[in-house]
Amino acid sequence: MCGIVGCIGQVNTREFLINGLYSLEYRGYDSAGLCFLDENKNIELFKAVGKVNILDQKTPKDIISTLGIGHTRWATHGSPNLDNSHPHVSMHGDFVIVHNGVIENFRYLRNRLAENGYTFKSDTDTEVIANLIEFNFKRNRFVLDAIKNAIDVIEGSFALAIIYKNEENRLYFAKRNSPLVIGVKKDASFLSSDYGPIGKYSHDFICLNDNEYGYICENEQHIYKDGFELKKEIVTLDNFNDYVSELGDYPNYMLKEIEESPMMISRLIDNYFDGEKFLFDQRILSAIRRSDDIVFIACGTSYHASLMGVKYMQYLGKRSEAYIASEWAYFPTFTAKRPLYILISQSGETADLIRCQKIINSRSSINIAITNTLGSAIERNATYSLLLYAGKEVAVASTKAFSAQIALLAMLTGAVERKNNVITHLKDVKTAMNQIIEKKNMIKSIANEIADKSLVFFIGRGNDYNASLEASLKLKEVSYIHSEAFPGGELKHGPIALVDNDTALVAFNSDMACDLAIRNNVEEIETRGAKAFVISSEPLFKKEDVFHIPVVKEYLSIIPMVFVSQYLAYYVALKKGVDIDKPRNLAKSVTVE
Ligand code: M6R
Repeated sequence: MCGIVGCIGQVNTREFLINGLYSLEYRGYDSAGLCFLDENKNIELFKAVGKVNILDQKTPKDIISTLGIGHTRWATHGSPNLDNSHPHVSMHGDFVIVHNGVIENFRYLRNRLAENGYTFKSDTDTEVIANLIEFNFKRNRFVLDAIKNAIDVIEGSFALAIIYKNEENRLYFAKRNSPLVIGVKKDASFLSSDYGPIGKYSHDFICLNDNEYGYICENEQHIYKDGFELKKEIVTLDNFNDYVSELGDYPNYMLKEIEESPMMISRLIDNYFDGEKFLFDQRILSAIRRSDDIVFIACGTSYHASLMGVKYMQYLGKRSEAYIASEWAYFPTFTAKRPLYILISQSGETADLIRCQKIINSRSSINIAITNTLGSAIERNATYSLLLYAGKEVAVASTKAFSAQIALLAMLTGAVERKNNVITHLKDVKTAMNQIIEKKNMIKSIANEIADKSLVFFIGRGNDYNASLEASLKLKEVSYIHSEAFPGGELKHGPIALVDNDTALVAFNSDMACDLAIRNNVEEIETRGAKAFVISSEPLFKKEDVFHIPVVKEYLSIIPMVFVSQYLAYYVALKKGVDIDKPRNLAKSVTVE
C-alpha cells in the first residue's frame, strides 16, 4: 500500500509534497515523511509517526527546494516507528528513496549487502533498495545503471522515487506492480501513486508500465526499459474531476460517498444507455455470449459484488463462479474451453487481483476489468474494460462503488439479454435510495443501540445473504465490532453457540419466499438473549421491524439493503468516535499481496 510523491522544478515543493500526501493518505497512514534536496545539495529529512497532519506540523513552512519526495506508509516490514518511516537514506548518504510495494527477496539482498559491509538502521525492505542502488553505483558510477541493476535482482513490487544527492536537477524513479504516474508541466515534473496530487498543477500525464525506470527533470522526462530509452505518450486527462474529491460540507468522506450513491446510478445509466439502446462495446457482449464459463475474481467488497455477478450470469444460463483473488492466484483452475474472466476492482490496483490478471493474460484468456479507475493497472492490462464512473472514493470503506458495481453488472446482463427494463428497475433503486436518505435518522437510532454490543450477526437468505456479507464487512471495518454474516439457516449449525445478551442480530428480509424462515431464525436468536433488528422490504414490513426499504425488483434489492447497512456502519463508527475514513490497520488500495 503506501503512497509516494515527488517533484522537481518550479513549484512550491513543500506544498506539493504535503498536499500530495494528504491526498494519498487513503493508501496508508502509519507514518509519513519528506525529503528535500536544497541548492547546496543538502538533504533535509522530516518524519512523523501517525498521520500526515503530524508531519505537516513538524515540517518548517519556509523550506526552499526544487526537488523533493514524500511518503505515507502502511507498514509491511517493521513496526510503524520513526526508524522504519520513509524516506530511507543509503548507508553512505548518497541516495534517498521512498517506496510503495514489497520486496520479496529482501532478506537475501540484505544479507548479501551485509557481507559487503552494509549496515541497516531500519527493519524495512526499502532500506535494502537504497543500499543496493548505492552499492551498484559505487561500482559503475552511473545512477541509471545502478537502478537498473537493482531492479533486475529485486523480486516483488515497487514504485520508487529516488534522489541522488549530487544531482539536484534529476529525480529518479522505477516501477513494477505498484502504481506510479508522471505529471508533466512546462517548468516542473511530478511523480505520484495516483493522479490526485498532480491535478492542481497539470492534467498531462505519462502512465508508466512495469519494469520502467528513468528520471524526470524540470522540463524533461526520460523513461527506460531494459537499458533502452522509450518514447512515451503524454495523455491529457479531460475528466480529471473523477480523480479528485473535495469534502465540501460533509464531515467525512464515508458519509459523502454513501450519499453520492444514488447519483452514481444515474451516471452509469447516462454512460451506458442512450435512451433506446445500451452503449456497451459489442465485443464485450459477444465475449459473454460465447463463453462457456464466466469466472469473477475480486477481493473484499468487490468480491461481494462479484457474487451477484455470478447470479446474473447464471440467470442468463451461463456457468459462472466467483473467486477471492488471493485464493485464485495460488490455486487457479482452468476447466472451461472458452472461459471469460471478469475482474472487479474499485481501485484497479489491488495486488492480489493483478497477480490473477497476469496468470490470465499469460494464457491469452479474455478478461474484462470492471474498475473505477481509468489508467489503473487492471484497467490497462485487461482485454476490455468497463468504468464504474462512481467518482473518486476516498474513504477506506467502499460504498458508492459497490452500488455502481451491482448496477453495472445488472445493466450488462440486460444488454446481453437485449432487455431494456433494467434501466427502469435501476431508476426505482435510485428513488428508493433517496427515500432511505430521508429516513437516515432512523438508521442512526438502530446504530446507537448496536454500538455497545460486542458481537453483531447479519443474516439473510438468497440475495439478502449476499447483502449480509457486505453489511458485516462494512461494520467490522469501520466500527471494530466483531461481526459475521450467515445465511439464516446456517445459524443453528454452529454460530448460534456464540449468541448471548451481548449479541445483536440484524436480519435482512426482502424476499417473500423466505419471510417466514427468516422470522423463525430471528426468534431462535432472541430466545437466547440477543437483540434483533429486522430490516424488511415494504410489503413484508411488520410493526416490530426497525426499518423498511421501498420495494425494488428482487434482483436489485441488494443495493438498497446494503445502502442501509452502510449508513448503519457509519453511524456505529460515529457513535464510537473512531476515525471513520481511515480505520485502523487498513488502507484503501491494497497494493501488497
Ligand atoms: O480496490 P478493490 O475493489 O480491488 O479493493 C478490494 C478490497 O480491498 C476492498 O473492497 C476492501 O474490502 C474495502 N475496504 C471494503 O470496504
